[in-house]
Amino acid sequence: MASVLSPTRWLHLATTALLLTTNPAASFSTSTPQNNNNNNRCSTTSLSVASTPPQQTSTPYDTVKVDLSSGRDYPIYIGSDFTDTEAATLIRQHIHGKRVLLITNDRIAPLYLERYQQLLSDNSVDDKELVVDTVVLPDGEENKTYDVMAMVLDKALGLGLDRKSTFVALGGGVIGDMVGFASAVYQRGVNFVQIPTTVMAMVDSSVGGKTGVNHPLGKNMIGAFHQPQCVFIDTSTLNTLPDRELKSGISEVVKYGLIRDAPFFEWQEENMTKLLERDPEATRYAIRRSCENKADVVQADELEAGVRATLNLGHTFGHAIENGSGYGTWLHGEGVSIGTAMAATMSEKMGWIDEGLKQRIYDILESADLPVKLPRDSPMKVETFNKLMSLDKKVADGQLRLILLQGELGNCKFTGEFDTGALQETIEEFVKEIEA
Ligand SMILES: NC(=O)c1ccc[n+]([C@@H]2O[C@H](COP(=O)([O-])OP(=O)(O)OC[C@H]3O[C@@H](n4cnc5c(N)ncnc54)[C@H](O)[C@@H]3O)[C@@H](O)[C@H]2O)c1
Ligand SMILES: [Zn+2]
Repeated sequence: MASVLSPTRWLHLATTALLLTTNPAASFSTSTPQNNNNNNRCSTTSLSVASTPPQQTSTPYDTVKVDLSSGRDYPIYIGSDFTDTEAATLIRQHIHGKRVLLITNDRIAPLYLERYQQLLSDNSVDDKELVVDTVVLPDGEENKTYDVMAMVLDKALGLGLDRKSTFVALGGGVIGDMVGFASAVYQRGVNFVQIPTTVMAMVDSSVGGKTGVNHPLGKNMIGAFHQPQCVFIDTSTLNTLPDRELKSGISEVVKYGLIRDAPFFEWQEENMTKLLERDPEATRYAIRRSCENKADVVQADELEAGVRATLNLGHTFGHAIENGSGYGTWLHGEGVSIGTAMAATMSEKMGWIDEGLKQRIYDILESADLPVKLPRDSPMKVETFNKLMSLDKKVADGQLRLILLQGELGNCKFTGEFDTGALQETIEEFVKEIEA
């Protein structure tokens, strides 16, 4: 159960019970409470009590809790302009050993590394004696590789870090995924903390414990499930994030509305300009609501036996576009945006959603200035899609499974049972637009 707590109060969110199946051929759907009217075969899950939209608040930060079994719960702290002491106090309580390895990349290092190294080393805030070493990796999705990740392991071994050490990821989704993976495999697993600095990482990748690196044959193909000890989000770090990166992260925010939270989607339709203008209250609300949605799904299905797959709306198409265009050409969220447009187009072709909903999806993505088609110089061909999509991690027993939209806003279906003709038509349509 995900919950929001402020330092003074808790707000609890109830979730409906889930009946999940691990049968890879099975399909199931999700729905928002008020739209729970489709009669798909499997289970439904929803945010049954919606968190309130933003109001002027003096609460210094929110906490969304990820409730996992076996005492592995962890908090996501969401605030802005934390003082060094506040940040140190919150983060250090989740560090149990004496050694910390703080990892970032060469773009973020000049902005934030010194501050976080100092505040994590501030032994005056509690009675711990921590030593904080750092590693700076090369920036970029093209560096999300096994070899670059291994630089973290090399440094940790060189420093003689033991199993009680904590790795801290300071950066976007690339750093978070790589550091999470390094901490999953270093001496068979050490603790780690996420300090996300992009919208993408704040609303999605830092929460839920999916970690990994890319392989030339597929994105995120090597990895592990490994949950962090806490996620510390200071939205002030977004002040230095380029607009293009900000918009990329918004594609995942749109996703939560589409797959399970219609009221949140409607809020986004009203507030997209505020998000693009980095309005602090709107930004904090969008991050909190996204984290609540993500936490709910992760709690229900930590290892992606079922409903967690719905978080991949648009991703099978999107990953193919990211890989087929060469990692680094497209931002992850941009690939997801085109992929979401493709999933919406395919769903509409099959009569699973109506034209009006498809149009709203295109409209919201375009209002966030996200791409909904491939550009003229795209190398993507029909065969590229087919080859790369067949390597997707959701393929089971040779059968491709997709997250498609079905019914009213807020409902989706993860299934291998779809009209393959509609899939091919959709791919051809998007590829034809390149050539037109
Ligand atoms: N694990 C998951 O569940 C999950 C979910 C979604 C995405 N992902 C992964 O996340 C990755 C994408 O993450 P991303 O979009 O954060 O990309 P990213 O980590 O590459 O960050 C984007 C760019 O912004 C820079 N940057 C980061 N924070 C900054 C700041 N505050 N100011 C200025 N520059 C800053 C980075 O150095 C980088 O150049 C992909 O590899 C994707 O597969 C994982
Ligand atoms: Zn994603």
